[in-house]
Amino acid sequence: MNKKTVRDIDLKGKRVFMRVDFNVPMAEGQVTDDKRIKAALPTINYVLEQGASVLLASHLGRPKGGFDPEFSLKAAAEVLAGLLGRPVKMAPDCVGAEVEKMAQALQPGEVLMLENTRFHAGEEKNDPLLAQQMAALADIYVNDAFGSAHRAHASTEGIARYLPAVSGFLMEQELEYLGRAVANPEHPYIAILGGAKISDKILVVETLLSKCDKLIIGGGMANTFLAAKGLNMQDSLVESASVELAQSILKKVETKLVLPVDAVIADKFDADANTQTVAVDKIPAGWRMLDVGPRTLDLYRQILTGAKLIVWNGPVGVFEMPKFAEGTFALAKMLAESGAITVIGGGDSASAVKKAGFAKKMTHVSTGGGASLEFLEGKQLPGVAALNDK
Ligand code: 3PG
Repeated sequence: MNKKTVRDIDLKGKRVFMRVDFNVPMAEGQVTDDKRIKAALPTINYVLEQGASVLLASHLGRPKGGFDPEFSLKAAAEVLAGLLGRPVKMAPDCVGAEVEKMAQALQPGEVLMLENTRFHAGEEKNDPLLAQQMAALADIYVNDAFGSAHRAHASTEGIARYLPAVSGFLMEQELEYLGRAVANPEHPYIAILGGAKISDKILVVETLLSKCDKLIIGGGMANTFLAAKGLNMQDSLVESASVELAQSILKKVETKLVLPVDAVIADKFDADANTQTVAVDKIPAGWRMLDVGPRTLDLYRQILTGAKLIVWNGPVGVFEMPKFAEGTFALAKMLAESGAITVIGGGDSASAVKKAGFAKKMTHVSTGGGASLEFLEGKQLPGVAALNDK
């Protein structure tokens, strides 16, 4: 990575403003998945060990630009305190006179969690005034919020103009592993793309196709490709506006694309639907494809054997419903046992490998959903671009 990291800067006695992504799932005021909090620990611990104090900033959810207790980071701060094994003070805001006082009183080794940055409308507008107020709280800016790096907001991008700005370890690690998918990948390199719509992922399809040896397409996207080949997908989700696009991709690179050959189909989109397994050209009227079938999984197994690098973004079936989870879970197992470097995009794919019980067996599971997708599209992430070059 050509950006400076916390290793490249003197932290002793400094106050660090660290942007993390604690936009964690919550239910009834409790954090229900602490993966993103755990992922920030190495950088927080390192900065503290170097003799700095830390102000942590994050957004949570999408509040409407004012204080809203439902979106408070208090519960996340409590989880963090437990994981760090040291107290975490909670600020009433992310800027303002009281927060300035709390920041100035911080001693080396102490941690202050700032309140949700999106309680200020200026955050998402990347308001320079808000960015300056945040910068005034500290001596150094560290961005470890890979999950938010695709957002050009005051705490992810604007603030980097007013302080020495470096990346944390999580950011570095994400860019290193996801970077393998788009620059100098090991071969054989197999990419797997799932998810509902081609139109959401067309740029990823093109970037991956230019780098990988085979591109496995599953999920709703596959239906559109199969329809583009002239198959009658019956009630399956087909994005008719993208059929022509799928045809032009097929024309260019059909030999690189791997489409399902059989399907688990259902008579309605429902967890209790009737199901059967058929060849993709034999879907009866009134039925829809919701998962890949066993012959397709055999095909995946053959293709993945001997792979050096496997990058996966998007489930191949409706894994949230047990009747249509087999394809995605079996694929997760194949990756776990492949011996290849396995890189999983965030969002749904990360939830799927976790639900399948294989998250720990993967080389890297990204903490970023939208961010990993934009990165795989080959886009520059504003939160990364704003950091100081090496
Ligand atoms: C995410 O969960 O993808 C990030 O935290 C960004 O959240 P946002 O989509 O609300 O900007």
